[in-house]
Amino acid sequence: MAGSYFLTTAIDYVNSAPHLGHAYEKVLADFFARHQRSLDREVLFLTGVDEHGQKVQQSAQRENVEPQAFTDRMSERFRELHASLGVQSSAFVRTTNPQHKQVVREWLQKLFDRGEIVFQEHEGYYSVRQEQFVTEKDKVDGRWPEIFGEVVHTKEPNYYFKLEPYRARLLAHLEANPDFIVPAFRRKELLGALEQPLADLCISRPKSRLAWGIPLPFNEDYVTYVWFDALVNYYSFAAPNGKQVWPPDLQIIGKDILIPAHGVYWPIMLLALGLELPRHLLVHGFWTNSGAKISKSDAKSLVDPVPYVGKYGPDALRYFVLREMVLGQDADFSDERFEVRYTSELAKGLGNLTNRTLSMIGRYRDGVIPSYDGFHLTEAENDLRSDAVVEEYKEAVAAFAPHLALQAAWKFAQRADKYVEETAPFRLAKDPAQAKRLDVVLAHLAESVRRLTVLVQAALPFTAIKMRAQMNLPLTPARLEEARFGTSLRNHAIGKPLPLFPPLEEKKEPASAA
Ligand code: MSP
Repeated sequence: MAGSYFLTTAIDYVNSAPHLGHAYEKVLADFFARHQRSLDREVLFLTGVDEHGQKVQQSAQRENVEPQAFTDRMSERFRELHASLGVQSSAFVRTTNPQHKQVVREWLQKLFDRGEIVFQEHEGYYSVRQEQFVTEKDKVDGRWPEIFGEVVHTKEPNYYFKLEPYRARLLAHLEANPDFIVPAFRRKELLGALEQPLADLCISRPKSRLAWGIPLPFNEDYVTYVWFDALVNYYSFAAPNGKQVWPPDLQIIGKDILIPAHGVYWPIMLLALGLELPRHLLVHGFWTNSGAKISKSDAKSLVDPVPYVGKYGPDALRYFVLREMVLGQDADFSDERFEVRYTSELAKGLGNLTNRTLSMIGRYRDGVIPSYDGFHLTEAENDLRSDAVVEEYKEAVAAFAPHLALQAAWKFAQRADKYVEETAPFRLAKDPAQAKRLDVVLAHLAESVRRLTVLVQAALPFTAIKMRAQMNLPLTPARLEEARFGTSLRNHAIGKPLPLFPPLEEKKEPASAA
């Protein structure tokens, strides 16, 4: 094994159904996890759900069920979505897990014992929706913005975690580790936010107002603020077989939860506990739906990933989101764009190349990939034998640009497609004098398709398996090194070719059916 790799995603609130934004983040993390496994690393990959807090309590109340029963049901929907998308995490995080609750209480006790958490009276305004105190400064045009929902005046003593003493150390860490926050423009935003002194963070909620949370170890009349509880998941679930893994190599989050949660609270919690900070905090952008903002409070704006998985298959959705979004930027989802990519890049692209290659080997060589020797290779064949695509792919993933990694793989597939046009194997097959030439062509096409099974496996794991099954190759994930040119397919007998991505005309139900 070439070492280990530990990555996490944000954990999703279970107060409403999973949507495309949730699906994207989990697929993105799964892509990196699979990539790291293909580099021979042992991967710890955490993802899951955030189950406590006011929003969940309120949603449960609306449905007249206990919060635990409510979250049991909702969590299952997220877990099922992950499974249907092939998101293979090491554990499915749930913050109602007893072991997690124990770790949250240990952290709180430690910080309390060290004097980092203090009890003090606070009079001010509280946003129920955001579960946080707000100040006059948060007003826009003299009013609390919509995102705060109902704002109430409260006067109550609470427990506060002192952040300001750590601001300078956090800034120094950001200076010393320029790729701690990716992309760079998000790092700048965080540096900007850290120019001002940091207010104390209220980490408690009186049980009388919010019962659905983890009781504070030093005062059971209070529960833990949901963000403090949720952030601890990255540590509490990182002990497979009882052995703590720390720190994470990569933490993936959306742009809305960098400041202050992951960019300020989280690193300061770690600094205060003497724990190392994650190597990278990767911040992705937001999906819009045909140009409109996706908002949980507007059901029409939500893109439900489930019908897309049902209609086009999990890999079509995985491919679309990974290929369409420039990591870090926002991107737009629409049926039209989805179908264009599906048809031109999956059905007519990868699918057609695989299918015609395997069909020709079936037809012209009885399903056995020919061997060839001592032949003069053309420029096209040298292109197809080049390993530049592997380097390009690897560099793109290392630079957190999955869309460029996929672009490199598809450029390679297009080169192979063009090779079919250039060499016209169906014509060569008619001329017995060209038999050896046809061997060269079919062998190069088969090898190109084999290499593609490796290059696409992190993004399209189901398709990679189908391709490998049709080629009669081992179905277990390959090492990325196997994407290099080789001659292992000489005289290898393939299986039966089957279409990978059926054309859309043959599909009946519309995507919007669900
Ligand atoms: N529960 C908190 C995170 C706690 S992490 C310790 C939370 N949950 S969430 O359900 O609101 O969001 C979960 C993730 O989905 C976040 O990373 C968020 O940025 C992401 N997305 C939510 N809407 C999104 C889009 N429209 N597009 C892309 N990602 C989006 O925040």
